[in-house]
Amino acid sequence: MIKIKNLTKSFSVNEETIMALDHVNLDIQKGEVYGIIGLSGAGKSTLLRCLSTLEQPDSGSIEIEGKDIFKLSGNDLRKFRSNIGVVFQGYHLLMQRNAYDNISFPLKIRKEPKEKIAARVNELFQFVGLQGKERVYPSKLSGGQRQRVAIARALATNPSLLLFDEPTSALDAVTTKQILKLIKEINEHYHVTIIIITHEIGVIKNVCDKVAVLNYGKVVEEGTVEEVLNNPQSDITKMLLGKELII
Ligand SMILES: Nc1ncnc2c1ncn2[C@@H]1O[C@H](COP(=O)(O)OP(=O)(O)OP(=O)(O)O)[C@@H](O)[C@H]1O
Ligand SMILES: [Mg+2]
Repeated sequence: MIKIKNLTKSFSVNEETIMALDHVNLDIQKGEVYGIIGLSGAGKSTLLRCLSTLEQPDSGSIEIEGKDIFKLSGNDLRKFRSNIGVVFQGYHLLMQRNAYDNISFPLKIRKEPKEKIAARVNELFQFVGLQGKERVYPSKLSGGQRQRVAIARALATNPSLLLFDEPTSALDAVTTKQILKLIKEINEHYHVTIIIITHEIGVIKNVCDKVAVLNYGKVVEEGTVEEVLNNPQSDITKMLLGKELII
């Protein structure tokens, strides 16, 4: 269980303070697919960076299985980080390495034995449907295939939490459907908790169990996808659903 409590993060830009996260409170249950939706600049990536401990908040906390992740250090922090997989906005693949080396990278860093790495990476190539692409470099892969490599790499260490930042924003409609199907399969097959950041309501509809709507750093609405989509309360949710235009 993940407990986000009063999470607040501001940035100072040209003597102006931007509240990227403003007292965010969320509970995410084990095994859930949790969507966080909002417009550009709402604070989505900042929240994801806090969840992966890449960013420290100004105040508030995130507890995972009862432990405040910002109080971890040394071995505990390393262990926590290797237990989460992140699929970044824009893939962030190593362009000078082929698909196999990209996916095996986190295991090599862990100094896993070669045979163990090969077995895991081959399993992942099967799982994400990229057999035969082992020696291909990212520049020769399509957007959907790159995303599959990024997903397999995030899964390599068998994490119990997977974070996706805009997994489909650069993909066409057909590829989006395939990637969302893959995300669902990951949740079912590996029983991993998944948090997806998106600005597309279709992503929420297709794969998420729960959703939180973020606007100017604040959670303005949350609940099951059914609840929120059938009975949206805030203007921003209605707008994201295309039900009301705010100009
Ligand atoms: N390192 C930073 N320095 C200054 N301002 C920042 C920094 N990171 C984020 N911000 C600001 O914080 C706010 C939230 O940014 P964030 O990247 O979290 O939004 P987002 O919801 O992910 O947007 P997008 O959908 O465009 O990716 C924005 O106003 C952004 O300009
Ligand atoms: Mg972002």
